[in-house]
Amino acid sequence: MNSLEYRLNLLPYTRAELIEMVKKQVSKKRFRHILGVEQSAIELAEQYGGCIERASIAGLLHDYCKEMPADVFLQAIDDFRLNVDLKTWNNNIWHGMVGASIIREQLELTDEVILHAIEIHTTGNAQMSLLDKILYVADYIELGRDFPDVQEAREIANQSLDAAVAFETAHTLAHLIAKNIAIYPLTIETYNHYCAGRK
Ligand SMILES: [Fe+2]
Ligand SMILES: [Fe+2]
Repeated sequence: MNSLEYRLNLLPYTRAELIEMVKKQVSKKRFRHILGVEQSAIELAEQYGGCIERASIAGLLHDYCKEMPADVFLQAIDDFRLNVDLKTWNNNIWHGMVGASIIREQLELTDEVILHAIEIHTTGNAQMSLLDKILYVADYIELGRDFPDVQEAREIANQSLDAAVAFETAHTLAHLIAKNIAIYPLTIETYNHYCAGRK
């Protein structure tokens, strides 16, 4: 993917510059995951007719805020006048739901399609765009992932993006329930729509 050049002016940086900026924000392990998500997102965009450039940027930026401390998110919730209920959640939710606003400001990214995909990349919602689905699924199936059902998830993603969203959502929910972890309401919404067929 090193030959990919950004031509849509979605960001004031080249892809190489963006990669360097991301590298400074996260651990080596997470950086490898991020590159894997970018690659998977690009492949899914090629297969399902999505925008390659948006897939690349969304993949590279989706975990940009993952290692920021809690006080940065709590301050950002005030600064960006986000829903104060977000303060009762944690990094798993903040790095997407609040991270999108931090990225919009810090990286001068204004493309709402990319920002929305980053915002809901851990939760999904009932009305996911093509890029939302691509990022949500790419985050789950990238080549560095090695949990027991990942190969099945990859095969499903190769057949149907919606089926892959459903598979991932059902498995994520089961995992959270088994560990007594609170479920963010949007995850339930994603489950009801993509797994249980509610319109
Ligand atoms: Fe994430
Ligand atoms: Fe991720």
